[in-house]
Amino acid sequence: MSADALRNLEEENKLLRESLARVTKEKRKGDAEIDRLSNALSATQLQLSSVADSQGQYFSKFAKEFTVSGILGTGGGGCVFEAENKLDEWKYAVKRIIVDPKAGKTKMKTLREVRAMAKLDHPHIIRYNSTWIEEPPEEWQEKADNTTLQKIGSRKRQLVNYESDSVFIYIQMQLCNFSLTEWLSRNKEKESRELGRMKKWFKQMASAVDYIHENKLIHRDLKPCNILFASKDHLKICDMGIVIEQQVDGEVEKTMTRTGSGTEEYMSPEQRALASFNISHVTSASDVFSLGLILAELCVVMTYDEKVRIFDNYRRGKPSFVFENANTVEFIGKLTVLEKRDRLTCKKMLDEMYLS
Ligand SMILES: Nc1ncnc2c1ncn2[C@@H]1O[C@H](COP(=O)(O)OP(=O)(O)OP(=O)(O)O)[C@@H](O)[C@H]1O
Ligand SMILES: [Mg+2]
Repeated sequence: MSADALRNLEEENKLLRESLARVTKEKRKGDAEIDRLSNALSATQLQLSSVADSQGQYFSKFAKEFTVSGILGTGGGGCVFEAENKLDEWKYAVKRIIVDPKAGKTKMKTLREVRAMAKLDHPHIIRYNSTWIEEPPEEWQEKADNTTLQKIGSRKRQLVNYESDSVFIYIQMQLCNFSLTEWLSRNKEKESRELGRMKKWFKQMASAVDYIHENKLIHRDLKPCNILFASKDHLKICDMGIVIEQQVDGEVEKTMTRTGSGTEEYMSPEQRALASFNISHVTSASDVFSLGLILAELCVVMTYDEKVRIFDNYRRGKPSFVFENANTVEFIGKLTVLEKRDRLTCKKMLDEMYLS
């Protein structure tokens, strides 16, 4: 990038930053305006964050603009920070995904997927605030992370595994309280799984997944750790990093094949069958199957072994009868039919009497 272009970009960035600060000060009155400015800001920062500053020094947008206050967790593809944005003094979850150039997945491909999700706007889907790429020089990230770990008093010795040529994609999003996985492990009494409440939560998930499918996307990795609580009874689906775009050929949705595997526990049989080859065949019906398994786990307290057995049986076409409510057995049965075409769509399931 030429010096002039860089200067212009920095100037534009500065102006957007000032505007954003002004609007934010007005007590978040104009949410829509903040969104618009944030998007414009992140578009310029996306370019700025991966270049050196005017003195040729590498700088990281994340290090410059956020103060890390905790590590929310590390998962397959990276880690999630709890961090305060120095500009608006608001706490966010910032997910950092490592793109391993050797894994065959290009950064642009990952970024395309993330951006596909960023356009979504639904009350039960985590809202992305901004996304950017960082390509630090060798060893820079490891040193920066070690300093962060020390600052927050973490006992971790290393945050993630570093490759010399790793590229990092950052996703700044709304900070939630805890995941459905945590809720399930803390609520093991039968009374905690009151059917009406579980149905209400399930409806929120189904409406979010329906919206994802309407937008010609597939989530592909629906599981309790990717479902978060924004407040007591308000769930939000997250982790759209590996969603893929559906290909619709006329009226028929074509099966997509792509590499990369997620956790297999909640996968549909068609998705799981090829997962060990690092390939999976997914359609929107695969998300429906995962939703069926999640509903099963919501309705009955299961040990880990029981869960594995029950889920494997569903994948073999054998429904479970552990549910007290016969309508629950029937409804989950409709979501977990082996033949993909016969499974209920999210739209149809929302019309079912069971959820009314
Ligand atoms: N927006 C958020 N607010 C609060 N916690 C979050 C947020 N996003 C993720 N987390 C938490 O951070 C942790 C790590 O998430 P991450 O997605 O990296 O791994 P995972 O969901 O456990 O597994 P996977 O990599 O298979 O998705 C999880 O415990 C998750 O609940
Ligand atoms: Mg996750």
